[in-house]
Amino acid sequence: MLRGPAAVWAALGPLLWACGLALRGGMLYPRESPSRERKELNGLWSFRADFSENRRQGFEQQWYRTPLRESGPTLDMPVPSSFNDVGQDRQLRSFVGWVWYEREATLPQRWTQDLGTRVVLRIGSAHYYAIVWVNGVHVAEHEGGHLPFEADISKLVQSGLTAQTAAGSVSDFYTLPVGIRTVAVTEHQFLINGKPFYFHGVNKHEDADIRGKGFDWPLLVKDFNLLRWLGANAFRTSHYPYAEEVMQLCDRYGIVVIDESPGVGIVLVESYSNVSLQHHLEVMEELVRRDKNHPAVVMWSVANEPTSFLKPAGYYFKTLIAHTKALDPSRPVTFVTNSNYEADLGAPYVDVICVNSYYSWYHDYGHMEVIQLQLATQFENWYRTYQKPIIQSEYGADTIAGFHQDPPLMFSEEYQKGLLEQYHLVLDQKRKEYVVGELIWNFADFMTNQSPQRVMGNKKGIFTRQRQPKGAAFLLRERYWKLANETRYPWSAVKSQCLENSPFTL
Ligand SMILES: *[C@@H]1O[C@H](CO)[C@@H](O)[C@H](O)[C@H]1NC(C)=O
Ligand SMILES: *[C@@H]1O[C@H](CO)[C@@H](O)[C@H](O)[C@H]1NC(C)=O
Repeated sequence: MLRGPAAVWAALGPLLWACGLALRGGMLYPRESPSRERKELNGLWSFRADFSENRRQGFEQQWYRTPLRESGPTLDMPVPSSFNDVGQDRQLRSFVGWVWYEREATLPQRWTQDLGTRVVLRIGSAHYYAIVWVNGVHVAEHEGGHLPFEADISKLVQSGLTAQTAAGSVSDFYTLPVGIRTVAVTEHQFLINGKPFYFHGVNKHEDADIRGKGFDWPLLVKDFNLLRWLGANAFRTSHYPYAEEVMQLCDRYGIVVIDESPGVGIVLVESYSNVSLQHHLEVMEELVRRDKNHPAVVMWSVANEPTSFLKPAGYYFKTLIAHTKALDPSRPVTFVTNSNYEADLGAPYVDVICVNSYYSWYHDYGHMEVIQLQLATQFENWYRTYQKPIIQSEYGADTIAGFHQDPPLMFSEEYQKGLLEQYHLVLDQKRKEYVVGELIWNFADFMTNQSPQRVMGNKKGIFTRQRQPKGAAFLLRERYWKLANETRYPWSAVKSQCLENSPFTL
C-alpha cells in the first residue's frame, strides 16, 4: 500500500513526455519517503484452490464476499512463492485453474481517517489472470503475470470502516492469539491437559541451501508441510530459539515445542564460571519473556549436551533450572544430556530426562545388533536412578541420499533405516512404561564446520537439505502416523487448516 498525494504522479507526466514516450503516468516502485508510507502484505495468506469440476465454484459461491475460511477449508500460503512447490500435495503440485488468496490487513488509522490520503493497493506480480477484491468489492483485474498492477482503494477504506476505531478513548491496539492448556509431569508421564502425551517428532535446525540460518516463509511452510506429512507432533528448537514466526505456526498447527536456549557447547570447565552462569540466567529471562505466551511451548531446555559430569555443573544447573522455574512456574524444565547416568550432576534438577545416544554410530560402528541391549540398558539405568519420564531426544545416523548397500553399511540409506528400526523396537517396549518421547536427529541435513565425520555437513537428516525424503522418512512416517492414531487425543484438538485429502483432517 502506498500513500502519496496525487500531485506526485501528475508531475511525472511532463517528465516522461520529455523522454519522447507517448505514455502518460507511470508505475513507480513503492518507495518510502516523507510523503509516502508503505505497508507490506507479504507473508502468510489464506489459500484455496478451486478443485471443482469447472473450476468456477469460487465465483458461483462468491468466495470473495466473506472471509475465505468461512466458505471452506484453507491452507496457509506464503507470498511471494509458488503454491506448487511448498506443499506435499500431489493435486496442488500440478494444479491448473483458479486459486484464491486472501489476506486480512489492518491499515494505520491515518490512512483510513485522513481523507486527503491516497491509498493504493499494488500487486507486484500474479500469474496469470488476477481479479482483486477489497472488502468484497471488485477493485482490479489484470491479465499476464510478471508485471505489477494497482488499484486506488482510498474511497473503499475511508468509508464506513470506522467500527474498530469507534472504541472511544482506546489509543493502542494489540491482538494476541491465545491458547489454553495445562502441562504436568508425573513419575512416568508427560501430561498435556491431564492426558498422557507422547512426543513423536524431530530436532530441527534453522538451515537451508543459500539462505543458511535465515527466516523464510516458503521454507517454513514447506517444513511444516513436511512435519504434517511425517505425522510429527513435536520438535525441539535445537540448539537455540527459533524465529518467532516459527513459534506462531506451532501454536496454530498444534505442534508441541521443547524450547531450547542457545546453551550448546558448554564443555570446558571455564564454561561453568559464575560470569557465564549469570549470562545464561539472563538469556533464559529473555527466552521466557519472548516465548511464554506460546501454548505450543511445553518445556524449556536450558542446554544441549553439556559436560554435566564436571564438578561445577551441579551448582550451575541447579541455579539455572531453579531460576527458569521461578521465571515460569507453569512449565517443566530440562536440559539435554549425553553424560553417563551415574556421573550427571545436572540431572537431579530436571523434570524430564532428555537423553541423546548414538549406538552403532559413534560407537560400535556398523554393529546395529548392539542397539537393543544398549538402549534398553540406557533407559533402565536412568529410570532406576531418577524415576522421571524420559525422552530419547536424539538418535540417528548419517546417510548420503542415494547411497544403497545391502547388507547395510554405514552412510547408506539401508543403514539409517536399520538403525532406526532397532531403536524403535526398544522405544515400543519402554513407551509402555516411562519413555514419553522420541525425536529423530535430524529433520533435514544441515551445514556444519569441516571434520572427518562430516560429509559436506551433517547428513543425519531424514530429508536432504533440499527437503527431499530419504528412505528413512517413509519408515518414520509410517511409525509416526501409527503413534498418532494410537494417541489420538492431542490431534483431535488441532483445528485442521488443510485440504480435505490432507492427513491432518483426522
Ligand atoms: C559460583 O558462586 C557460588 C556461590 O558463591 C559458589 O558456591 C561457586 O563455587 C561458584 N562457582 C564457580 C565455578 O566459581
Ligand atoms: C491411522 O488411522 C487412519 C484412520 O483410521 C487410517 O486410515 C490410517 O491407515 C492409520 N495410519 C496408520 C499408520 O496406522
